[in-house]
Amino acid sequence: MEPPEPAPRTVASREAYGDPRDDGPSPASPLFALRDVTQERGGTVILRDLTVDLPRTAITALVGPSGAGKTSLLRLLNRLDDPTAGEVSFDGRPITGYPVAALRRRVGFVFQAPTMFPGTVGDNLRVAVELGGAGAGSSAPPMDRVLSAVGLSPDFASLEAGNLSGGEKQRVSLARALMTRPEVLLLDEPTSALDPEVAERLLATVVRLTRERGVAVVMVTHRLSEARRASTHAVMLEGGRLVEAGPTAQLFSAATSERTRAYLASAD
Ligand SMILES: Nc1ncnc2c1ncn2[C@@H]1O[C@H](COP(=O)(O)OP(=O)(O)O)[C@@H](O)[C@H]1O
Ligand SMILES: [Mg+2]
Repeated sequence: MEPPEPAPRTVASREAYGDPRDDGPSPASPLFALRDVTQERGGTVILRDLTVDLPRTAITALVGPSGAGKTSLLRLLNRLDDPTAGEVSFDGRPITGYPVAALRRRVGFVFQAPTMFPGTVGDNLRVAVELGGAGAGSSAPPMDRVLSAVGLSPDFASLEAGNLSGGEKQRVSLARALMTRPEVLLLDEPTSALDPEVAERLLATVVRLTRERGVAVVMVTHRLSEARRASTHAVMLEGGRLVEAGPTAQLFSAATSERTRAYLASAD
């Protein structure tokens, strides 16, 4: 797969979807800004004093060994969790200032293991709009278009979601997240349960979404080759701490930290 070109827009769904929002874009601010973020769970610190910006770029990869805190960080970005201390900002404003439903329409989350609601693929996509609350339904995109955006034919709408393959379920998860026209998709190891070939196709789909729809992606991955090929920015975590962040090419070719060099040089 070719490395992705810069997206024509990063967070740009306002113009793309003709969906005016109450607060205008703030191009100067990072997409997400974390300041001194600490997260504890049951007395254990799982993210420690994390200060990092996630820029308005096509794909940001969160990398690092298992248990580094990648999923924990991702969950802070649409308030599945709130930090114990510190602040997360989205689009220039503290994330706590957004109504949660509105935030989650703008920032979609795709879980590591695709979970289908009972019923058809169409039911699954409709549920996303219903869960999105007031404001989501009025501008929901046509289902056919969303299915096609994730590489599924319109016929899938009438299929039982539970009967699909792992790769198809992951595509339906992506489609479901797109039903609220998000500006950002948070993907937690979206390819980890897939065979390499299916994983490769899903990754290509994600790259295409960033190009064609201007959706910004923050993606956790432990497949370093995926991060290297698909992401434009990378954030390396270890033991709940930030090790290094920067343009992907720079991290992979000239990381400042010896830890980053060692980790990125490890086998996929
Ligand atoms: N619900 C939880 N309760 C207590 N500890 C947790 C919980 N979820 C994750 N952890 C711990 O937090 C650390 C970071 O986990 P996680 O964010 O899932 O890492 P990663 O996604 O990088 O593998 C790990 O040590 C994990 O055991
Ligand atoms: Mg994880």
